[in-house]
Amino acid sequence: MTRQNSGLSRRGFLGVSAGAGLYTALPQTVRAEAGVVEYRLTAVPGRARLISPEFPETDLWTFSGIVPGPLLRLKQGARLRVLIENRLSEATTVHWHGIRLPNNMDGVPHLTQAPIEPGQRFTYEFDVPDAGTYWYHPHLRSFEQVDRGLAGPLIVDEREPIRVDRDIVWTLDDWRLNKQAQITNDFGHPHDMSHAGRIGNTVTINGVVPETFAVRAGERIRLRLINVANARAFSLKFEGHKPTIVALDGQPVTPHPAPGGRVTLGAAMRADIVLDAEGKPGESFQIVDDYYSEGAYRLVRLNYSDERPLRESPLDAPLALAPNTMPEPDIENAEKHFITLEGGMMGSLKNAMMDGRKVDLRAMMHNGKAWTINGVVATGHVMEPMLTLKLGHTYILDMRNHTRFAHPMHFHGHAFRVIARNGLPNTHREWLDTVLLERSEGAEVAFVADNPGDWMFHCHILEHQMGGMMGIIRVV
Ligand code: C2O
Ligand code: CU
Repeated sequence: MTRQNSGLSRRGFLGVSAGAGLYTALPQTVRAEAGVVEYRLTAVPGRARLISPEFPETDLWTFSGIVPGPLLRLKQGARLRVLIENRLSEATTVHWHGIRLPNNMDGVPHLTQAPIEPGQRFTYEFDVPDAGTYWYHPHLRSFEQVDRGLAGPLIVDEREPIRVDRDIVWTLDDWRLNKQAQITNDFGHPHDMSHAGRIGNTVTINGVVPETFAVRAGERIRLRLINVANARAFSLKFEGHKPTIVALDGQPVTPHPAPGGRVTLGAAMRADIVLDAEGKPGESFQIVDDYYSEGAYRLVRLNYSDERPLRESPLDAPLALAPNTMPEPDIENAEKHFITLEGGMMGSLKNAMMDGRKVDLRAMMHNGKAWTINGVVATGHVMEPMLTLKLGHTYILDMRNHTRFAHPMHFHGHAFRVIARNGLPNTHREWLDTVLLERSEGAEVAFVADNPGDWMFHCHILEHQMGGMMGIIRVV
């Protein structure tokens, strides 16, 4: 079910998402030269019904009027051009999460571009070297802008996709709503900032609290999961099914069964899974999220139609995706750097450097901060690089989480191989752009610094990022 960009000019949107998996909203696309796929997005206030009809619609900030934002889709190797118009009442930027692009297209305010002021436009344009499941979101005051709904999926199709019956995107989001179904206004609350981030009370798939997802016995589904929540992590258990993980953060991985039957996604992370519908016509199974042991809930129900099975046994077709284009790290000759995460409540942080001054946690909290990377508290997007790397060399980052909370650590402009976890070699050595470090965990990642520029390295719990857990890695 790959929808190709038709190249036709479209005004407005055709249809709205009517349930999980039905992703029918089309962005405006315009005629562009060969090899270029062009979209227009408007950052604009809007409203939508996230939950059942007895609740009012929710006021949102949207890309082009819908949440999640329009699905942007193109083929690997094509060039993406996106014209952004800012109709919000504050400045914004757009970051193309996971795409290895030129630094000046990375959407980091003040660092790689001037913020797009209200009423202004900006055009992003870059080649898309790798296939996979990505997403886009603002990088300015993202703890509020992303939370209010500014986030959308970006799919880059393989030149030769694997064979499936349906290719489905589930953009997972988490909202903190009041009784009138409105987003609560407590952004950047000190408690959220210094603990686990802004965890909400309402989870949506493609902008709707889902009840059921219809499947047909025997079909093979490629399900692309994208976690665009500010802070919530997911651990999805597909009852009665054996999901196979084929890509993580968009990057192909040796197809393997989800560990313990669960697909775990920290904030900003993605997973592509292949689901063979091995149930019988008329059966029903639940997908349960039990990442937070005290808060397990049913995300959605897989309802089998009464149709006869599409096939009697699972499709016998290869699951492995063609590799992407990252250079292979030269581990033998790699230079290693240590990255220590500290801070937060119940942690051991004594003091840190903030704007060139030595401060304690109390003084940090007074300034809306609680977190450090290598002893430094970030107070904005522009700062001295924490590391300067030589173009073309291989580096290992040995990250240690010395806090009581999990941190999905994201690096811009590159993908890295996770080569070890807690000192043990990592089985699949997956490529990621965001690695989830559970409390007290460590991970070693390796990559070739092949993309010149100043790149953000930060926690993707957006309240932690705002609270100082951010740095710059320079590649020259
Ligand atoms: Cu998804 Cu620095 O961001
Ligand atoms: Cu964090």
